[in-house]
Amino acid sequence: MAFRIQINPDRVFGKRSPMLYGQFIEHFHRQIYGGIYDPGNPRSDEDGFRTDIIEAMKRIKVPVLRWPGGCFVSSYHWKDAVGKERRPFFDKAWRVEDPNTFGTDEYIRLCRKIGCEPYICTNAGTGTPEEMSDWVEYCNLDSEGQYAKWRIANGHPEPYRVRYWSIGNENYGHWEIGAKTAREWGCLVRESAKMMKHVSPTAELSAAALSDPDWNMNLLKSCGPWLDWISIHEYWDMMPEENRPATYEECMAFTDGIDHSVKEVRGMLAALRLDGKIKIAFDEWNLRSWHHPNVHTIRQGVEKESYLTPRDLNDDNSTYTMADAVFSACFLNAMNRNCDIVGMANFAPVLNTRGCIYSDAEGIVLRSTYHVFDLYVNRLGDEVLDLWEKDETPSMTVPHKAGGTRTVKTLDLLATRWSDREGLAIAAVNKHPSEEQELILETGRTGRAVIFRLTGDSRDAYNDVDRTRVRVEKEEAGDCNGRISVKLGPHSVNIIQIL
Ligand code: AHR
Repeated sequence: MAFRIQINPDRVFGKRSPMLYGQFIEHFHRQIYGGIYDPGNPRSDEDGFRTDIIEAMKRIKVPVLRWPGGCFVSSYHWKDAVGKERRPFFDKAWRVEDPNTFGTDEYIRLCRKIGCEPYICTNAGTGTPEEMSDWVEYCNLDSEGQYAKWRIANGHPEPYRVRYWSIGNENYGHWEIGAKTAREWGCLVRESAKMMKHVSPTAELSAAALSDPDWNMNLLKSCGPWLDWISIHEYWDMMPEENRPATYEECMAFTDGIDHSVKEVRGMLAALRLDGKIKIAFDEWNLRSWHHPNVHTIRQGVEKESYLTPRDLNDDNSTYTMADAVFSACFLNAMNRNCDIVGMANFAPVLNTRGCIYSDAEGIVLRSTYHVFDLYVNRLGDEVLDLWEKDETPSMTVPHKAGGTRTVKTLDLLATRWSDREGLAIAAVNKHPSEEQELILETGRTGRAVIFRLTGDSRDAYNDVDRTRVRVEKEEAGDCNGRISVKLGPHSVNIIQIL
């Protein structure tokens, strides 16, 4: 059966920010050291950055890169990682020594090479409002005060003008160093925001939020006037302790209510009449949570085999299949549909661990999720259009990893147009593990149809150092006279352009 979808090319829901396709990188495992920062590797430039990784990040036009954590940041002191004398420190979050050779100056230089905005997450665990605002001084003041002068003395006369700052990470969580109660959080964020804004009034500040009403209400009542963003995180396939990836079908169950956090936070912002002032930064998201056993627990691992070695399992490329691509496309569709209130989203992380890019000493692998970013950044429009189902599209019932089943729509669609040129681009995701779906798109526009299909030879297909089984194929699909029929392969992400 073919399903008719009506698109209204003249009814624009909103203009999505390019920052919906943001990324995150943390001092964890091989994201920084031995990852993007690999001095001495023949693929690294004069500053020690891997040029092959930077080129891959430029291809997906990374708009913003959140750093340095994540849990790491909650006992990180930025002053130890600038200047000539770098003091190695023991990272109490991840229980490894950090040499501090990659600090603020290296991070800013990396952002300039990528061409992205910096987004610095500050230490609200063991840190203080003064330490956070000193960091803003270092980055954003011309020459006033000791920290701007320190930056100049370190060889950086011009201020970095870092626009995006997050106060803390997940300080609501028992696992976070320096976890806070809702009340403590409100006070700390307010005092930190006050000092940071006094230093840099144009800085945009975020703070960690939850879908927990008490936490959010206290935060927003205490600091709403000071905040520009509210930060939410979500991982669906939780594997911090046991590395058992959900099956394809179980991953499709996770698409049920994929935007629930956005809806809940939107409601709270609206209730406090802050929805016109504060935007949501979904600044950590990934289908798969990171695997790091015996550190988010009370009993810590004793032998490195129990807490450090297992982190290598995050690097297993066979984990990242078409399930990751299909889920990520559904998430990005949902964020586009909520682009009136979601202004930023950061895939966690960009490199290694669960990232969209894998690297080793010899080169890189573009995982299935990388190709979703490539399609959404480079083939979709920036204005979100209204669309509706003229025939009810199919659903499927799939097992949930926690037990039971979920019934989810088999198709996930997003219609867009460009604000600066003619044309439409529709993202059409077929979640079904084995069945093709046929769409009849009533586009209200004529033009040449071009289809970009991301799929693999099976729902469990993945890319690795020795194989490329997930790729984008381009198809010239003839003329569209206002209506076009498209067959969507199983477990596929498709962009249909009418140009
Ligand atoms: O698993 C990695 C962690 O996930 C990040 O450091 C933290 O922000 C989130 O809990």
